[in-house]
Amino acid sequence: MILGIETSCDETAAAVITDEGEVLSSVIASQSEVHARYGGVVPEVASRRHLEQIGPVIGEALVGSGVGLDGISRLGVTRGPGLIGALLVGLSAAKAIAWARGLPLVPVDHLQGHVASLYLGPTQVEPPFACLLATGGHTQVLAVRERGSFERLGTTLDDAAGEAFDKGARLLGLSYPGGAEIDALAQSGDPQAFSFPVARVPGLDFSFSGVKTSLLYTVRSLGEAAVAERRADLAASYQRAIVTALTRRLHQAAEAGGFSRIAIVGGVAANSELRATLPEASVAPLALCTDNAAMIASAARYTAPLSPAEALTVDAYASAS
Ligand code: KG4
Ligand code: ZN
Repeated sequence: MILGIETSCDETAAAVITDEGEVLSSVIASQSEVHARYGGVVPEVASRRHLEQIGPVIGEALVGSGVGLDGISRLGVTRGPGLIGALLVGLSAAKAIAWARGLPLVPVDHLQGHVASLYLGPTQVEPPFACLLATGGHTQVLAVRERGSFERLGTTLDDAAGEAFDKGARLLGLSYPGGAEIDALAQSGDPQAFSFPVARVPGLDFSFSGVKTSLLYTVRSLGEAAVAERRADLAASYQRAIVTALTRRLHQAAEAGGFSRIAIVGGVAANSELRATLPEASVAPLALCTDNAAMIASAARYTAPLSPAEALTVDAYASAS
């Protein structure tokens, strides 16, 4: 059994999975309400919240799994990328448990964790496949040839797709984090009501700064009353532009890499239009798309663990290398 711990951003999460990838418990204490009033995550506030929640969250995951600490044979913890102070809370907790219980520990890359969400549950995805990874901090297309690694084929040159959703939501007067809110609002809107640009970037990279600026200008020229009246149309059209950019790149990446299968992971993979536009794509259950610790435990299955003494020397990192 593997205990996973995740504290890279504003979710304090712990989970227990079996070595085969069955999720026995997955506890997520979200801080989004705390950060909503600031319109984004405040790093120092996040670290303090993680400190308060990490103990109870790990305890709840262990009790909920029915296994307890005695049944755990390996730890997986997010090492980066993310907010450094937030990461250190989870990493320190994992080191302490590893040392106290003599357990091996795997430091996990958060992005590898998102990909490993596909290796959980009864219908696990087997590489090779081309994968779209779209979160609040990253947007990349990946070539996945084996479970333990991936190769990056393209990345965003500016904002991440989730960030574009969140910033767009803010312009529309919705609360943080805005992706799910735009998704819900777009259900009753016309995606063709407004024309927002899909960036033309060479290669397999992305750019979302143009679509965001275009929404800003549209909102300004419409004025408050018209925006309020047409909010659903704006959300649907904006969402359509982002989803088009994402799906186009994923298909191009699959073709370039010679992959016959595609998958989508990360918080934005929860988007209902993206899922509906790509019915052939493998995708994890909704609860495993946004940040969670089961995916971190899953990734920990594919890397050789460190001894407790080695684990004590591991540092967190803020950005992807
Ligand atoms: O993977 P994730 O939980 O955290 C990071 O690693 O960043 O992704 C969070 C992002 C946020 O930007 C959020 O707005 C977005 O995923 N998101 C969505 C949806 N649910 C979450 N974006 C679009 N549609 C959704 N349904
Ligand atoms: Zn994430």
